[in-house]
Amino acid sequence: MAHLFDPLSIKGVELRNRIVFAPVVTNFGLRNNQAIQYFVERVRGGVGLIIIHGTPVDLLLRAGWAQGLRPLVMAIHDRGAKAVLQLWHGNELNGQAVAPSVRESYRQITREEIRTVVEKFATAARHCQEAGFDGVEVHGAHGYFIHQFFSPLTNQRSDEYGGNAEKRMLLGMELVVAMREAVGEKFLLLYRHSAVDGIPGGTPIEESARFAQALENHWLDVIDVSAGMGRTDELSIPPASAPEGTHAELAAKIKAKVTIPVIAVGKVQTRAGAEKILQEGQADLVALGRQLLADPYWPEKMQEGREDEVVSCTYCNFCTQEMHAGRPIACLQNPNLGQEK
Ligand SMILES: Cc1cc2nc3c(=O)[nH]c(=O)nc-3n(C[C@H](O)[C@H](O)[C@H](O)COP(=O)(O)O)c2cc1C
Repeated sequence: MAHLFDPLSIKGVELRNRIVFAPVVTNFGLRNNQAIQYFVERVRGGVGLIIIHGTPVDLLLRAGWAQGLRPLVMAIHDRGAKAVLQLWHGNELNGQAVAPSVRESYRQITREEIRTVVEKFATAARHCQEAGFDGVEVHGAHGYFIHQFFSPLTNQRSDEYGGNAEKRMLLGMELVVAMREAVGEKFLLLYRHSAVDGIPGGTPIEESARFAQALENHWLDVIDVSAGMGRTDELSIPPASAPEGTHAELAAKIKAKVTIPVIAVGKVQTRAGAEKILQEGQADLVALGRQLLADPYWPEKMQEGREDEVVSCTYCNFCTQEMHAGRPIACLQNPNLGQEK
């Protein structure tokens, strides 16, 4: 069984350890020095892989926009980590509010428009590849547009994209296939999926495991297992009362059905907690979000046996509050957050 500081090679992309910086919206942009210093600090602290937060696919389609991320990618690579960008799509298309099925003020997206969305992901992935990233991750979780297709709570379509579980899986598979065709074999494709919705009538874990299998069969490289339907949801961003490694059992149920690497996320905080997930074979990688905001040097301190020096996240969710208010994230444990330079 793997240990936290064992390297992992995924199709020739060498990760120096099993520690991933989970995608975390910062509200301070990406193409500036502040963002570069913020990420570099976490690379210096020792993470193996950075998944940059959900970024609207439309931004990546703007001429030259992705190329502006090159300095960031280079800064991450120069210090020994790998970089993946998370691709996000909301419920807006051409200025209109759309959803898999009609609800509130959203109209149902047409099949032709779904095709456009798929093409956008493929082009965005290629632009990320051209900017030097090691891969991209589909944000298929947390109740956003892509997840809305998978969940029976938000998808009541009667065409090939809705109905039974297999049909609700179609969009995710089309995304991965189209991106793979656009980027070729070498570039990493990750998919973040909410393994359960956490709402009665939502996705059962068995369907998620089948989905992960289907994605693997369509050339996905890594499945990143989160949970929950909404940004403020107790599963997507677990509260202080949640147990450590709170979604690891969901990751394990998915890992049992696939051979590609699996990421577990959700309140991973101690070395023992992280090692347990790996040693019990629940996942191949562990992602930390808030703990790496509080202390970017968590990996180094763990590796050097300086656990007592870690600045612990209290999971107070001040960062989440600031994010929702549209302000740059901040951390009550770490006044340097966002001021790294
Ligand atoms: C401020 C904030 C922003 C987040 N932004 C994203 C995001 O862009 N994409 C995503 O998939 N998850 C996002 N998440 C969820 C995290 O990636 C992670 O799954 C969650 O915080 C649980 O991990 P943790 O307990 O280690 O923080 C965000 C979480 C926080 C606290």
